[in-house]
Amino acid sequence: MGILKTANQRPVLHFSPKQNWINDPNGLVFLDGEYHLFYQYHPYSSVWGPMHWGHAVSKDLTTWEELDIALYPDDNGTIFSGSAVVDWNNTTGFFPDEPGIVAIFTSHLGGSETSPTVQSQSLAYSHDNGRTWIKYEGNPVLTHSSNPDFRDPKVFWSESHSKWIMALATGQTISLYSSPNLIDWTFESEFGDGAGSHEAVWECPDLFELAVQGTDERKWVLLVSVGDNAELEHGSRTQYFVGTFDGSVFTPEHSDIRWLDYGKDNYAGVSFSDIPEEDGRRIYVAWMNNWRYANQIPSSGWRGSMTIPRTLSLRTSEGRTLLHQHPVKELDHQFTESVALPDLLLSAGKEFEFKAEADCADLNLHLERFEAAEFGIIIHHTGTDRTVLSYSAADRTLSLRREQSGDTGFSAMFPLPQTTEELGQLKDIRVLIDASSVEVFANDGLSSITSLIFPEKPLERLSFYTVGGQVQLRGGSVKLIR
Ligand code: FRU
Repeated sequence: MGILKTANQRPVLHFSPKQNWINDPNGLVFLDGEYHLFYQYHPYSSVWGPMHWGHAVSKDLTTWEELDIALYPDDNGTIFSGSAVVDWNNTTGFFPDEPGIVAIFTSHLGGSETSPTVQSQSLAYSHDNGRTWIKYEGNPVLTHSSNPDFRDPKVFWSESHSKWIMALATGQTISLYSSPNLIDWTFESEFGDGAGSHEAVWECPDLFELAVQGTDERKWVLLVSVGDNAELEHGSRTQYFVGTFDGSVFTPEHSDIRWLDYGKDNYAGVSFSDIPEEDGRRIYVAWMNNWRYANQIPSSGWRGSMTIPRTLSLRTSEGRTLLHQHPVKELDHQFTESVALPDLLLSAGKEFEFKAEADCADLNLHLERFEAAEFGIIIHHTGTDRTVLSYSAADRTLSLRREQSGDTGFSAMFPLPQTTEELGQLKDIRVLIDASSVEVFANDGLSSITSLIFPEKPLERLSFYTVGGQVQLRGGSVKLIR
């Protein structure tokens, strides 16, 4: 069980609530210079319970101001996950004077033996940049008579089809709906039978178009979070599909299963709506946690945090178009110190050590001439807690081991290694360390490992090692927040 922990486990660069429980990011939307982060929130306890939408805003995606609760449960149910959009053209009729934000969320009722689960989709709108909300009087706007898993609407305006599109998690499929006004919805298609991983319920979809880097092509990406069940080794995680979308039907271009992250703590992630075209980024945030142990992680009154916001991009390599992730560039301004590392020729028995007494660190390494069996980075906390990242030349995989990273006893799964799929030769690696997390991005963001850690004491030093040969590091840097 979680024991009371010191304040040093409160992340500096990641959003966490002042008090109590959070899970999924909801309603990610940009308006008037502000990024809005709503989230699943239980205001009365540090474990999951009747859901509300909490609210925080940021101008730089890295420092967040927590505001009042945005949405409270009502007669239609508690407030499950969903999205938010700006209704620029007053399609809803809610905004006769000025455009504003509409939240589209799941109303959740029941779920006990005596009252069966009923999930439907509802609307709320705001005239004051999300500070206060009016629930739409005609709620719910989308219901279903037989499916208990009918939730997590993610909505966007399709310019080319002049209609709103909703991606909705419906059991182990994603259903697409369309609407002229966010109020009247028409079923378009259902995706998922025979595609992707079906090891648990599908949740929190997101559907968006991205340019394929270095080409004129654009492709559609569908994110699908896959829940936990008792037989799984890894708990809850997120898969993605790359394909086409014709305004009605999503068609994937591949049959392999693709995971968004190889760490255990990246779930229910979705992207921001209404980022201005001149910015053009698709920015993703996920809940940095895993349903297997989310209710048990160490807590000192608050529980849960979000990943660092990441820019998503598509690149094609060897015939496969894959998703890459990079921490948003706004992060760079948060560090108080930046140190260029010397070029280093590492060999067996010749470790390099770097003092990094800091709250946060952002390590960037480029690997040249890889002639070793293994290369690793050890994140040392004051005392004996450590997290080990290692690349195996034989398997061409990267692993993060957190079994000695501090408090791990709250879950049998938590201490197990987290390993990527085959990622080819390791060329570069970025490691972002905060008080209770490590986020790893390898080979220009192709493979990521997002992992919570609960060390007893702050970061002290980083060391690099090799086994069975040499590795040349060039042009590395470490940024710190002290
Ligand atoms: C995903 C999820 C969603 C649901 C919400 C409830 O983590 O299970 O499907 O809307 O959390 O809090």
